[in-house]
Amino acid sequence: MKGANWHKLTKTRLSFTVIILLIAIFIICAWERNPLITSFGLSSDQFKSIPKDFANLQESVPGSKLPSKVPDDTSEAPDIDPNEWTNESEDDEVRENDPEECNYAKGKWVPDARRPFYSGSECKRWLSEMWACRLMQRPDFSFEKFRWQPQNCQMPSFTGPRFLKRMQHKTLAFVGDSLGRQQFQSMMCMITGGKPAPQVQDVGWEFGLVKARGAVRPDGWAYRFPRTNTTVLFYWSASLCELQPLLNGSDPKPVSYALHLDRPVTFLKKYLDRFHVLVLNTGHHWNRGKFQGNHWELHAYGKPVGDSKLSDLSNAKNLTLHSIVSWLNSQIVKNPNLKVFLRTLSPRHFVNGDWNTGGSCDNTVPLRGGSEVSLEKSSDPVVQQAVNGSLVRLLDITALSQLRDECHISKYSKSSNGVHDCLHWCLPGVPDTWNEILFARI
Ligand SMILES: *[C@@H]1O[C@H](CO)[C@@H](O)[C@H](O)[C@H]1NC(C)=O
Ligand SMILES: *[C@@H]1O[C@H](CO)[C@@H](O)[C@H](O)[C@H]1NC(C)=O
Ligand SMILES: *[C@@H]1O[C@H](CO)[C@@H](O)[C@H](O)[C@H]1NC(C)=O
Ligand SMILES: *[C@@H]1O[C@H](CO)[C@@H](O)[C@H](O)[C@H]1NC(C)=O
Ligand SMILES: *[C@@H]1O[C@H](CO)[C@@H](O)[C@H](O)[C@H]1NC(C)=O
Repeated sequence: MKGANWHKLTKTRLSFTVIILLIAIFIICAWERNPLITSFGLSSDQFKSIPKDFANLQESVPGSKLPSKVPDDTSEAPDIDPNEWTNESEDDEVRENDPEECNYAKGKWVPDARRPFYSGSECKRWLSEMWACRLMQRPDFSFEKFRWQPQNCQMPSFTGPRFLKRMQHKTLAFVGDSLGRQQFQSMMCMITGGKPAPQVQDVGWEFGLVKARGAVRPDGWAYRFPRTNTTVLFYWSASLCELQPLLNGSDPKPVSYALHLDRPVTFLKKYLDRFHVLVLNTGHHWNRGKFQGNHWELHAYGKPVGDSKLSDLSNAKNLTLHSIVSWLNSQIVKNPNLKVFLRTLSPRHFVNGDWNTGGSCDNTVPLRGGSEVSLEKSSDPVVQQAVNGSLVRLLDITALSQLRDECHISKYSKSSNGVHDCLHWCLPGVPDTWNEILFARI
């Protein structure tokens, strides 16, 4: 197409060919999204949306090569670099027809000079300083230059504009603990390339995410990319269960919280119908220390669990996972466009002790313990079993993350007081890969 013949075409034939090509690409894209629409069965409504697809290709992300000024609406088709079209559509064509057929958890880490997706010295609007290892004393960053190669399928290449195009008029919600917050921050940095993106709006208030008086931070954050009307949010819920404050007499300050294992966290019940993609995680808070620190008291089926088998936290967690999956499954049945992922456990890498007994993770050599995952089953069987047979999908990142012990904050955190962090990841880093896999599946 780009050869000498191209130039021989007359101007008229050229534009005619381009129009045919664009329509063909649009039909292919529409078909990929919804195989039930045949290329001949497109309604006039779907044709009308062509200019919209032009517009949303143009989502302006600083640092990308796309022009930053775009007509607001569909009245004019903006200029498009045909290369971008071509690459975009080629990319869509190599996508699996059914991404669910690929096990993205199987594969290997390979060196890639084009990584990372953003600089850890930038992205200051979204990346917490406590996770930006580039802002710490850490000397070695070779770990940033790897990408995950699934064994039997192509990983579609993530770019901010592609993500936003796919998520036009949609909301991606992360709900979980601090590892979920890491994935959220990673996603914001990946979409923007870590560049300041002043056009991105803070829309936390729409989801009740505002800092309460006296609170250190709000319970979450929500941001909107206005050109594509794409919202990305995070809500902090370490257990994914409903927490009910337990009061003592008239004292307004709760003495403790009932953790209702069989009830989904209120935020989800309230806002689920606004989400199109939901990514959940829980795991590291299911230990006695966290429960005591948070004053959580286990309840199930409306009453305290007492000394039943649910007083064992691994059983309690398992009940929660099964309950939330079963509730979400019933919601997906009602709204089949909703895509829900339960992320498997993010592995910890403490050696010679735990976090509070001098454990550390000093290795800086990437992939010292191997680079490949060939297991068919997840290394997090509890989560895998919880989603098995439901419409909730598994975002299985445990084994591939297990190979990356050199990617944690380690001893470099400023506020560590000598405690090593072998739980959270440096960003950019491993959670970027979780987001690539997520992108491949939405
Ligand atoms: C598209 O591909 C061409 C060559 O294949 C390359 O020169 C161009 O930079 C690519 N554009 C984007 C946006 O990746
Ligand atoms: C933005 O997207 C939401 C769905 O997430 C939709 O309800 C709303 O109407 C959209 N707004 C505009 C201006 O298109
Ligand atoms: C509840 O309040 C009473 C006094 O009003 C106090 O003696 C008791 O210790 C409180 N219980 C808890 C669990 O804080
Ligand atoms: C988790 O709960 C499910 C459903 O109640 C049960 O079938 C399964 O055996 C439990 N798994 C574990 C590891 O306890
Ligand atoms: C999922 O459930 C089916 C039966 O319902 C069982 O055969 C299969 O082994 C399960 N898979 C996993 C990974 O637990």
